[in-house]
Amino acid sequence: MCWGLPSSSCSLMVAALMVYALFGCCLAAGVLYFKSWSCPPFNWISDIYPRLTYFAYQSLLLSRATPDTSPQFMPVDKITPKMQLEKYQLSYALNIQVPVGFEEEFLGDPILPNRITQRLEETLSYIPQTDRFETFGPDEDPVEFAMNQMCSVYPEIYQVWEDKLSDVALTRFCLFGLGAHRVETTTENGERYFVVRSNALSNLPVRSGFERYGGDAYFDMGWNAVKIVDAGLGPLLTDGTVNLVTSTPSDGAQWDRAKFRFRSSLSVLVTLVDHLYGIHLQTANIVVTAVREQLSADHPLRRFLTPFTFQTIAVNDNARNNLIQPRSMGPRCFAFDDVGMQLAFAAAPSLILSGIEVSVEEGGPFINRAKYIDYLKDKKGIDTEYRRRQRAKNITSFSGSSWPTTLGATIPPQQVLWLTRSCRGF
Ligand SMILES: [Fe+2]
Repeated sequence: MCWGLPSSSCSLMVAALMVYALFGCCLAAGVLYFKSWSCPPFNWISDIYPRLTYFAYQSLLLSRATPDTSPQFMPVDKITPKMQLEKYQLSYALNIQVPVGFEEEFLGDPILPNRITQRLEETLSYIPQTDRFETFGPDEDPVEFAMNQMCSVYPEIYQVWEDKLSDVALTRFCLFGLGAHRVETTTENGERYFVVRSNALSNLPVRSGFERYGGDAYFDMGWNAVKIVDAGLGPLLTDGTVNLVTSTPSDGAQWDRAKFRFRSSLSVLVTLVDHLYGIHLQTANIVVTAVREQLSADHPLRRFLTPFTFQTIAVNDNARNNLIQPRSMGPRCFAFDDVGMQLAFAAAPSLILSGIEVSVEEGGPFINRAKYIDYLKDKKGIDTEYRRRQRAKNITSFSGSSWPTTLGATIPPQQVLWLTRSCRGF
């Protein structure tokens, strides 16, 4: 008995006091520290989630060294044996598995995850999420604001785009910038246009307070902006009816708004479909998984590809945990609600423009990038600087021959397995 309480209650009280003494003070200090970011001069107006993410990334940057292929970063004796990797099943019914971060090779690197940091990262997505709708004033600079908030995490600036809003800027955005890999051609009423589309996102539901995405931007054959056709402005109907709003350069404020909506929508489409799904989850994930699971440590192809897959597993697992998992950074940044996120990822495989989408009747699907670029030029009239440079850098020029379209008998068995595993993922 203590203080007149039964011994079991007394033990619980002592245990609670010990837990508080051990963790409570640290927890309270941590909460106060992150709360202090809301005060001047920092003025962070965010949830705790981006603050913790920023803090983690800041510490990563401080401990990061620039890797090279020397024994310091890629010692040959640390190349892991060929083996099955432990994997996560992705959310959003993508039927894709991503190796867990600590399956990474060369685990001596201090920035690589261990099981404890992995578990801590997993729990971040449970932090509540709030949306804020404050807007910038006419005399405020959003870029300067973001730079001040991000401090050292803000990426190094190597291009300055003074003009982001004009029609010329819209052309540059589509022809040389974020839309360069999504240029298509179409004919309407006898007129031929270049078009960059984002209306595929227009029927996906968003959280309260946001507009739906949308906008297909049309250009004439001289790359002058002609119109933006937006399917995301009308009410979201479930009977299949789509309300299209067409804006042209003579429409003043409506045109400026259409351009803003299009730029925003394309950035989401490219980030979610091409970057997250196409690059991280398809290309990089499938190649690195096939390399690690099908090629032994002393295989020449494994040795050749090892520098190109350096930390790919860790990066992809980061993308899975911090960008794709429900309530993680990706869903917090995009306007989609949970259903919208599910539908966006479900549509991602059909929205990628990489050569796979070309039908058999038209000579596809293309895995060979050079042949795809030739097809775009000859059959679609798309001959842009982006595609010309991409063709010049095509990896087939490295080996001096085309990527095999059939698996010849001269290819060693391990290589056949690797190729099969890689190609099956596409
Ligand atoms: Fe990335």
